[in-house]
Amino acid sequence: MSVIVISGGRRLEGCVPVQGSKNSVLPILAASLLSGCVSVIHNCPDLSDVAASVAILEHLGCRIAREGDTITVDSSTLDRCDIPEHLMREMRSSAIFLGAVLARTGEARLSMPGGCELGPRPIDLHLSALRRLGAEIAEQGGGLRCSARSLQGCDISLTIPSVGATENAMLAACAARGRTAIYNAAREPEIVDLQRFLCACGAKVRGAGSDLVVIDGSVPLHSAEHRVIADRICAATWLAAGAAAGGEIEVEGVPREQLLPVTDLLAQAGCDVREESQRVTLISDGYLRAVPPVRTASYPGFPTDAHPPVMAALTKGTGTTVFVEMMFENRYRHTQELARMGADIRVEGRVAVVCGVPGLQGARLEAADLRGGAALVVAALAAEGESRIGGLHHLDRGYERLTETLRSLGADIVRV
Ligand code: EPZ
Repeated sequence: MSVIVISGGRRLEGCVPVQGSKNSVLPILAASLLSGCVSVIHNCPDLSDVAASVAILEHLGCRIAREGDTITVDSSTLDRCDIPEHLMREMRSSAIFLGAVLARTGEARLSMPGGCELGPRPIDLHLSALRRLGAEIAEQGGGLRCSARSLQGCDISLTIPSVGATENAMLAACAARGRTAIYNAAREPEIVDLQRFLCACGAKVRGAGSDLVVIDGSVPLHSAEHRVIADRICAATWLAAGAAAGGEIEVEGVPREQLLPVTDLLAQAGCDVREESQRVTLISDGYLRAVPPVRTASYPGFPTDAHPPVMAALTKGTGTTVFVEMMFENRYRHTQELARMGADIRVEGRVAVVCGVPGLQGARLEAADLRGGAALVVAALAAEGESRIGGLHHLDRGYERLTETLRSLGADIVRV
């Protein structure tokens, strides 16, 4: 198994062009099933979760071509409606295929996506939204059998502004007769990007980015070309790395408003943050001060996915910061690993109390989930001495060319 070896304590300098968004390209790949035509999707990141989605599309009978960061999906040849368990297990967010397959074929068979490292990942809101639209869904033996002779537009009210449930409802509603209104919809930029792709296919979708998304379904769809937005969580990770290691870094391609909760926090922690419309520059001496309590929330609140790398940056410095994780039960698996580097973190349920320490020491570390792994990388860049990080398959789900990106900023990092 390969590991990343980092010799920490070096300042980071330079500009990072941010990769395409994982959490945008995954639902868009699922949505490419709807038209039965050709979708040309640019700025796709090279990630194992993207490869898993492509494998599902190919299993369903689609023809896929990949050239650089462009993935072309011809879904005219789709000839199946089942997703086998081994493909479902590859990627927890494969539940997003449920709405797309159901919309396109009128039926869908897949296994329950199960939990992940972050804890149980229920899809009850997905299923209730699809049932509201007229789908019959039988849950048996860990599997889902769904059928919908016809889907009927309706009002859907989500009890939680779930990203995945909003996306599944949007995709199924595109095939429903009449109008669907999704109330308490998730407002993430990735939902806006999905709407942009669906409209490029000819769908009538509006309101994404607000808590009310309206879809006029059963509109004939056609081929489309689309460029995926930049990944705001990767950008947040690079900013946290610069804050922790010290130096001056720029991240390009993410609208400044999508990074506001993170840049505000890092500025309060003592970094000099300069923002233009699509570029953020951060200057740091590598020693951060505590900030007021951080509660994760749905967009536009503080993003749960940025929580671990930002926490890692705050472990070295002064003062005490309280984190409250409101989205996932098992978001703190990285804290034990950070403690092995000398970090002072106390976890009680969803609350983590970080007391800044003068310095961190390199150690042998193991990533247990995607963003927790990013936290270990951030801490290792700030630590004195060498760190060796295993569990890289978690990082490969969300960060393309991680070592090349950090090496371009001056980090002493290799993957062996
Ligand atoms: C998406 O996951 C992202 N994944 C996650 O990013 C992100 O952390 C999350 O949204 C929150 O922003 C993708 O987009 C592929 P949710 P999703 O449904 O859709 C509960 C990463 O690291 N819930 O908004 O699964 C759920 O348990 C990943 O890139 C239900 O109870 O998140 C959670 O507590 C991790 N029932 C909360 O809602 C449901 O039916 C928010 O989950 C659905 C969700």
